Amino acid sequence: MHLINLKNWTQTDILDTVENGIHIKTYPEKYWHVARGTNLALLFQKTSTRTRCAGEIGITQLGGHAHYLDWRTTNFGLADLGDEIRVLSAYVDVILARFLEHADIATAAEAADVPIINGCCDRYHPTQALGDLMTIQETLGKLEGVKLCFIGVHNNVCNSLIAAGMKVGLEVTVVAPEVNPAAEDKALWEAAERKGTYKPVRLGETSGPGTPCRVREAIATSDIVYTDTWIDMEFFTDPSFAEERKRRLEKMSPYQLNASLLEGHECRIMHCLPAHRGYEIAGELLDDERSLIFQQSENRLHSMKAVLLKVLSTGV
Ligand code: CP
Ligand code: NVA
Repeated sequence: MHLINLKNWTQTDILDTVENGIHIKTYPEKYWHVARGTNLALLFQKTSTRTRCAGEIGITQLGGHAHYLDWRTTNFGLADLGDEIRVLSAYVDVILARFLEHADIATAAEAADVPIINGCCDRYHPTQALGDLMTIQETLGKLEGVKLCFIGVHNNVCNSLIAAGMKVGLEVTVVAPEVNPAAEDKALWEAAERKGTYKPVRLGETSGPGTPCRVREAIATSDIVYTDTWIDMEFFTDPSFAEERKRRLEKMSPYQLNASLLEGHECRIMHCLPAHRGYEIAGELLDDERSLIFQQSENRLHSMKAVLLKVLSTGV
């Protein structure tokens, strides 16, 4: 089974992976050799700390081997993606790929003879969402009926929270005055809205981006507030994105998570990291007693191990 966008994962697949992640975290020694001799290739077009380390360290702790391939030092860029993936899948048992564009992860899944895990594309970040569900389950003891409010730019992380939430009854309210064009997935949004687990807050032109009352209303009824970068990693230092970066920073600044906005609220605070302190989140909130952020990042490792075992056990 591939892990591309969670759409083909059942509620049971997701809940089992969450429970297994918690079990692996509690009893890591029981899993030391369960994937002995297994080879994981990590093929990355973009930078990464958490996803790469969770994959590399995770498979090593399970008794297997990791092979990190920086896209630029391979011949992937010279050849047909499907051909190269076919070759790679003859060498390894599972591939964790971080591609710039979603279309490439779909092509890779089509060509691979082994499971492909999407390590974050411009449209989805499923391993992040699975780790986040683990953190929520561990902290609140449940997923169904939990209210999560995502505040920021509607992006890959937001989509995967919606896709996961839809399967397990996690209610995702989104306050996003901007949507990353690559993240537009109307079919997902409509399906989740129909199911009642996705509630977009329609800000409208008249309220203006500087009006945070809708944000306050959404926070007041949420168990969790979640934010992520206003600019995805591949654009951060891209000179051609400089104008857009400036526009976004101005438009998004009223939506920053900070102590004043969250004053008097019991809600837990989440962020997938890397955080841009002073932009989407004030630095002080990372260490706030309501913050789950570093628990969340640690859980990426345990959860990745559960994901690896899941896809290895099912094959393609
Ligand atoms: N949250 C996350 O995926 O982090 P990295 O980009 O560092 O992998
Ligand atoms: N949404 C951000 C962070 C993902 C970890 C990005 O794609 O760069």
